[in-house]
Amino acid sequence: MTDGKLLVLGLESSCDDTAAAVLRVSTESDTEILSSVVSGQADLHKDFGGVVPEIAARAHAEMLDLCVEQALDQASVNLKDVDLIGVTSGPGLIGGVLSGVMSAKAIAMGAQKPLVGVNHLAGHALTPRMTDAIEYPYLMLLISGGHCQFLIVKGTNQFVRLGGTIDDAPGEAFDKTARLLGLPQPGGPSIDATARDGNPTEFALPRPLLDREGCDMSFSGLKTAVLRVRDEIISEKGGLHQSDINDIAASFQRAISDVLVEKTRRAIVEYLKLLPQTPTFAVAGGVAANSEIRAKLQDLCADHSIAFNAPPLKYCTDNAAMIAYAAAEIYMNDLVDPTHLVARPRWPLDQSKRPLIGHGKKGAKA
Ligand code: KG4
Ligand code: ZN
Repeated sequence: MTDGKLLVLGLESSCDDTAAAVLRVSTESDTEILSSVVSGQADLHKDFGGVVPEIAARAHAEMLDLCVEQALDQASVNLKDVDLIGVTSGPGLIGGVLSGVMSAKAIAMGAQKPLVGVNHLAGHALTPRMTDAIEYPYLMLLISGGHCQFLIVKGTNQFVRLGGTIDDAPGEAFDKTARLLGLPQPGGPSIDATARDGNPTEFALPRPLLDREGCDMSFSGLKTAVLRVRDEIISEKGGLHQSDINDIAASFQRAISDVLVEKTRRAIVEYLKLLPQTPTFAVAGGVAANSEIRAKLQDLCADHSIAFNAPPLKYCTDNAAMIAYAAAEIYMNDLVDPTHLVARPRWPLDQSKRPLIGHGKKGAKA
């Protein structure tokens, strides 16, 4: 550590992206992301309709060293100058998490560097601090292909979960719906683009759990509703026209965004009761890229006079920069816990709440 600055190497391999990054993190909150290498595995899984855990684990084991080398090269940093290594040690697909933890242990042992195990969800949750130095506390909505939860982020390892999905994550719903409509994967961007030409009020799709108090969500029923609408059109017209696909995509996206906006409204009200001073809301995860959802969440925050933060997309989706950053905060605040270096499929951030049920195709939820 020089001049209060920590040079950190991060590794991530909990789902279908192998990633490594090098950051210079300072106590003054001016983080420099020197490199962030992400190697996706979409091609390896495309014929299987989802991520195959064994294929993912093997690909991570093969790619991790290469990603680390590239990340160090791009940052013009020598491993011997690194002060700290951070690795995702859960939650996620256990084979991939193990690949990362084993690689990181080998690198740390060989180079004699301290190693910190990082909760992947904490990486996402602390991202607005890495990209925009936002202060604690803040309210976060984490929405991706594997995760969906509202968190009050109070400190480096202080999280209060206000609610989350009880089944699928919204990204899974986008991906499955795209598959039903014959649109390419990943489904989120395809539906986002297709919905622009459709009528969002053409089909009355359900808004699951809006009738239930609180911030829990459910997305698994939506794809069944889409399937029913699709099959009705096919039996009426003998097939789907492009305008039908556009209308279904738009109606589906509107249903998801209505649910997310209403549940976020409730989370904001709850948050403001607890922490009314200088409130900030942040959204992260791949689904935060959705144009309609992003715009509506921003409007909602404006209505409640609450600051809105959405990190750049490449740091919303899975990456190792967020893991390196979280490792640095843990290390600088003397919060290192050696038991965190054990690979875990499940690892809820808020240990006081009962785990959310559900285990999506992209891994265990927490
Ligand atoms: O955070 P992420 O890269 O990986 C994890 O799942 O952890 O999120 C990927 C998910 C996919 O399900 C993808 O369809 C969704 O994010 N996504 C979107 C958009 N772009 C990506 N969903 C809706 N609209 C988008 N524009
Ligand atoms: Zn993630």
